[in-house]
Amino acid sequence: MKIKILELTKSKESDLEIILVNNIEDLGKNRELLESLEFKIKDEATIFLPESKKIYSAFEEFTYDSIAIAISNAVKKATTTKFKSAKVQINSKLEENFKALVEGAILGSYKFETYKSEKSKSELELNFIVEQKSSKLKDILDESIIIANSVNSARDMVNTTPQDFTPKSFAKEAESLAKEFDLECEVFGEKYLEKQKMMSMHSVGRASVHESQLIHLKYKPKKAKAKIVLVGKGLTYDSGGLSLKPADFMITMKADKSGGVAVLNTIKTIASLKLPVEVHAIIGAVENMIGGNAYKPDDVLRAKNGKTIEVRNTDAEGRLVLADCLCYAQDEIKDFDYIFDFATLTGACVVGLGEYTTGIMGNSEELKQRALEACQNSGEYATKLDFNRYLKKCIKSEIADVCNISNTRYGGAITAGMFLDNFIYDENKNKWIHFDIAGPAFVEKAWGYNPYGASGTGVRMAVEFIKTLA
Ligand code: BES
Ligand code: ZN
Ligand code: ZN
Repeated sequence: MKIKILELTKSKESDLEIILVNNIEDLGKNRELLESLEFKIKDEATIFLPESKKIYSAFEEFTYDSIAIAISNAVKKATTTKFKSAKVQINSKLEENFKALVEGAILGSYKFETYKSEKSKSELELNFIVEQKSSKLKDILDESIIIANSVNSARDMVNTTPQDFTPKSFAKEAESLAKEFDLECEVFGEKYLEKQKMMSMHSVGRASVHESQLIHLKYKPKKAKAKIVLVGKGLTYDSGGLSLKPADFMITMKADKSGGVAVLNTIKTIASLKLPVEVHAIIGAVENMIGGNAYKPDDVLRAKNGKTIEVRNTDAEGRLVLADCLCYAQDEIKDFDYIFDFATLTGACVVGLGEYTTGIMGNSEELKQRALEACQNSGEYATKLDFNRYLKKCIKSEIADVCNISNTRYGGAITAGMFLDNFIYDENKNKWIHFDIAGPAFVEKAWGYNPYGASGTGVRMAVEFIKTLA
């Protein structure tokens, strides 16, 4: 989508006009007609009047969500017509929410057509008409375009099928990003995992024909103001392993790479915005399969930090991959300020929070709060989930240091987070946040500006947090 800011006096003829409606006056001359068509000033109400070539899209509040959804619906409606361009006049209050307008338009018009024989035709040109252009608006436009396009590229990757997006494809994507943005990139295979005694991650990928890849991307600007490590669960497919998932639960497990994809697209965004923050992206790219060589319930695995893990369910594999990735990060990267992991870690998080919300966990109240605020400012939904001493006991093992599943059905998102805490070194306890994105990462019924499929969850919130450090 092409987006421009034009001044009122210089505004050229567009094919269509989009009118964002917050109160009755905004309906103008068409008020009676719209009322007769039962058009209401409610979020998600959108109508096209072909004769006047106008699309009316309502929003109830001057909030990110309300406005992003309104523009997204308007743009979607516009693309169902033959018209090639649309203009939207924005007042000062809408200007204050310009980020939501730009991101809503780009995220809302996303389509995944890789596997369709017929692709949709040319894209829409969208012109925002303002009274007076400003460098502030132009900066927001440029930044929001970069962020929203990164979210869409994350969606493309996650939507790509497991036969087309393997751990090696992950590595290729990382290498091509490194070339494009001048990042450092290291990729390690299974031999390295064995040599480094990362047997927790190594075991998960053992039965797959696709070799596991540990990917480490580095963006090192001169005069960095902070250093952050992002770790992502990159399960290119999660069949459950020998603790095989039931058929219905296996569908959508191509999206189990969403955390890895989010960190890849976050580092890309930060590099492309040239922010003065050093960012490391570490991805555990693995496929969890069955076979004669598969790891088993009853196995005991030793992670890089020497801790032993009793496997009681091979479907709780994400935490095994992350355990070693977190150790690798802490061993290899010196003096970082933050270490954040992103993972579609538990079905329990979806049960607890619903399909729209990310779970934020960690040991520092203050950092959890800052992470939450970044999420809220980014347009993503999140909430804090607190650790406690009793849930910690639920992952004790009779024969190893820790068990990969809890002894109770309850509190599964938190016990998974507390499992990861075993692999955070003492000196880093307060630098760590775990984001469980299992709910929002994949959209089964379209909501807001998210169509069916991958949502690109994690990118906007990570970028927003890193912006606070710059
Ligand atoms: N990848 C899944 C979690 C998941 C479930 C993500 C639904 C997105 C939607 C994870 O590897 C998994 O299978 N977790 C198990 C853990 C259980 C065995 C303790 C789960 O949540 O059922
Ligand atoms: Zn699993
Ligand atoms: Zn998984």
